[in-house]
Amino acid sequence: MPGRNTNSDDNVFMISLCVGLALLIVRVSGRSCGSPGEILNGRFNTDEGVLFGDKAYAVCNEGFQLVGSGVRNCVATGWDGAIPICEIVKCPNPPEIVNGEITNPPQGTVTFGTVIIYKCNEGILVGNRELVCTKDGNYSSAPPACKDHKGCPSVQVENGSKVAGFGPDYNYGDFITFACNPGYILSGTDTVTCGINGIWEPELPTCQKATTTTTTTTTTTEVPPTPSPVKEILFSSSRCFLLN
Ligand SMILES: *[C@@H]1O[C@H](CO)[C@@H](O)[C@H](O)[C@H]1NC(C)=O
Ligand SMILES: *[C@@H]1O[C@H](CO)[C@@H](O)[C@H](O)[C@H]1NC(C)=O
Repeated sequence: MPGRNTNSDDNVFMISLCVGLALLIVRVSGRSCGSPGEILNGRFNTDEGVLFGDKAYAVCNEGFQLVGSGVRNCVATGWDGAIPICEIVKCPNPPEIVNGEITNPPQGTVTFGTVIIYKCNEGILVGNRELVCTKDGNYSSAPPACKDHKGCPSVQVENGSKVAGFGPDYNYGDFITFACNPGYILSGTDTVTCGINGIWEPELPTCQKATTTTTTTTTTTEVPPTPSPVKEILFSSSRCFLLN
């Protein structure tokens, strides 16, 4: 019967097709796709392997971000897709500040690692003078502020003197180091810094009379340099008298 014949022909065809496919799969699955490619400022992670069915994952260096698909598949024709791009991270324009300016205004877009430096035209710079464009696309800190500052008053410590920072004018951040006069001991911190509010920080030290030195000084002054000869004679005579 023709129908029967056709059926057996179909079966033979199907069997050979299946065998062929199986052979193809065996051959293809052992196939290597080789290197998935080089990425500028990044690389492919091929820990999974580079054989048929494996995936290669794109990883960008710090401060760079992926543009395009981060995965390539090893297929019969090799790696699919294309090599992605690792683009440098960008930060928004740095903020302007009142009474101050940026000493190195950026030319174009600010990118990862760029340092922005501020200065004050009036007042004192408080906060961070330098901002860095981070890998997260923001700045390392808030910009500084320019604050009014009248300076700190010149100060003295009783029974002490300045050994550093003689002034006479003191601005924010200036310091004075004190030392006590001989016979006095410093209590507190020897160095004070002019704070943002025009106040010395920490509290000024004090010079306290040294108690040990005081005792010896008192003893020496109270004892007469040479005992009165009269007293000595009287003393001796009384002793003699008592002994007699
Ligand atoms: C910058 O962004 C990152 C991620 O969003 C965040 O963790 C970090 O605190 C930010 N830094 C600053 C200084 O705002
Ligand atoms: C210590 O200071 C006081 C107050 O100024 C002063 O009267 C005294 O003479 C000083 N003592 C010495 C030894 O300088």
